Amino acid sequence: MRLGVVVSGKGSNLRNLVERNFEVVAVATNRPSCGGAAFARERDIPLGELSVKGFASEAKRDEAMRDFFMAHGVELVIDAGYDRIHTRPFLEAFRGRIVNVHPSLLPEFSGSMNAVEQALQSGVEVTGATVHLVTEDLDAGPILAQERVPVLKGDTVETLRGRIHQSEHRILPAAIRLLEARLAQSPAVGQ
Ligand code: GRF
Repeated sequence: MRLGVVVSGKGSNLRNLVERNFEVVAVATNRPSCGGAAFARERDIPLGELSVKGFASEAKRDEAMRDFFMAHGVELVIDAGYDRIHTRPFLEAFRGRIVNVHPSLLPEFSGSMNAVEQALQSGVEVTGATVHLVTEDLDAGPILAQERVPVLKGDTVETLRGRIHQSEHRILPAAIRLLEARLAQSPAVGQ
């Protein structure tokens, strides 16, 4: 299935998908200087540089992101470290076809960009990673895959984040395959 990946950060999940031969046909970013955007340029993947500053509103930016992905025939959207919430024009265009990866065992530590820090501070012994469908409800769409990651004695945010990333690199590809199989039974985007 043709994937459109949305990034704001380092881009390790994007890299992982490309290296596992997923068909990443377009990358969109709200942060043109991020690592994920640099990776897209390096691999000559069409890159939509959609910083909100260039638009009248978030919704206008999301219309541009929708049109950019549609123009590249994107069938499934992967939020791989995207730090904004999609607005209605984008959600409606790709309803049931947007996947997010979150660095905790949702619903724990939801709605935050600091889920790893929160897990460490809270003293839990186990945290993890979750892949879920994106809906209007932040971090609360149906879960596709989860993996537990132990919090080890002496863990820092960096060491724990590193292990959670390894987990994400396993479960995101698995969840995409699962969803692709499900969607193969349903109508294409825009139909
Ligand atoms: C991941 O931990 C993901 O769960 C969160 O943002 C991070 C992105 O990492 N939403 P990367 O940019 O793919 O390396």
